[in-house]
Amino acid sequence: MTTFIVLLGPPGVGKGTQAKILSERIGLAHISSGDLFRENLKNQTELGKLAQTFMSRGELVPDDVTIMMIRERLSRPDCVIGAILDGFPRTPIQADALEIMLAEEFNAQVDAVPVIIVTEDVLVQRLSDRWTCRASGHIFNGKSNPPKETGKCDFDGSELYQRDDDKPETVKHRIQVYLDQSAQLISYYREHGKLVEVDGMQTIEQVTQTMMAALKK
Ligand code: AP5
Ligand code: MG
Repeated sequence: MTTFIVLLGPPGVGKGTQAKILSERIGLAHISSGDLFRENLKNQTELGKLAQTFMSRGELVPDDVTIMMIRERLSRPDCVIGAILDGFPRTPIQADALEIMLAEEFNAQVDAVPVIIVTEDVLVQRLSDRWTCRASGHIFNGKSNPPKETGKCDFDGSELYQRDDDKPETVKHRIQVYLDQSAQLISYYREHGKLVEVDGMQTIEQVTQTMMAALKK
C-alpha cells in the first residue's frame, strides 16, 4: 500500500509548512522540488546552477530537468510507502509525467490533492517575513510563527535566512507564473476526483487538522 499526496497552492500559501508537519505525523517522505533545487545550488551542481537562472527571476525551471530530478528522488528507499509532494507537479506536463512514474515504478497513483486557499495579499505578507533554517529547512514567520530566539532555528539552533526570491517584485511575478501555468492543475485534479479544498486563512495547526481530517476520508 502506498500513499502519494500532492500539495497545491500559490507561493507562500503554506505548502512547505504543512508538508513538513504532515510528513512527520503520517511518516511519509517530504519531497519539495524547490528545496531540491536549492540543495543542488548549495552543492554547486550543474542542475543547481541552471535552476538558479530561472528561480532568481521567479520563472519555472524547464519541465524535463525538473521531472528528471523528481524521478531520481522518488527512486530513493524512503519513498517505497509513498510521499508528500510539495511544489511538484506545477504544469500539466509534470502532472502527466507523475502519473506515469507512479504507475510504472509503484503501481500507484496520486491519492489526494489538497489545495490550500488564501487571499493574495496574505501571500505577499507571509513571504516578506518568512525565515527558513539553513540546515533543516524548518520554516518560521516573524509574525505568525516566530522562532523562540531571533535568527535561530527552534529545532537545531542553526541560522535562519530569507530566500532571494522572496523580494516583493519577485513574489508578485511568482504569483503570476502560478496563475498562468500551475493553477490549471486545480481543475485537472478536480476532474480526476482527487481535489480537497483547504482554508489556508486558519492558524497553521488548524490547517493541519483540516487537512488530516480530509485525508482520512
Ligand atoms: P518553491 O520553493 O516550491 O516555492 P513556492 O511554490 O513559490 O512556494 P513557497 O515555498 O514560497 O511557499 P509555501 O507554500 O511552501 O509556503 P511556506 O510553507 O514556506 O519553488 C521555488 C522556485 O523553484 C520556483 O519559483 C521555481 O523557479 C522553482 N521550482 C520549484 N518547483 C518547480 C517545479 N515543479 N517546476 C518548475 N520549477 C520549479 O509558508 C510561507 C510563510 O507563511 C512562512 O513564513 C510560514 O511560517 C507562514 N505560514 C504558513 N502557514 C501559515 C498560516 N496558516 N498562518 C500564518 N502564517 C503561515
Ligand atoms: Mg515551499
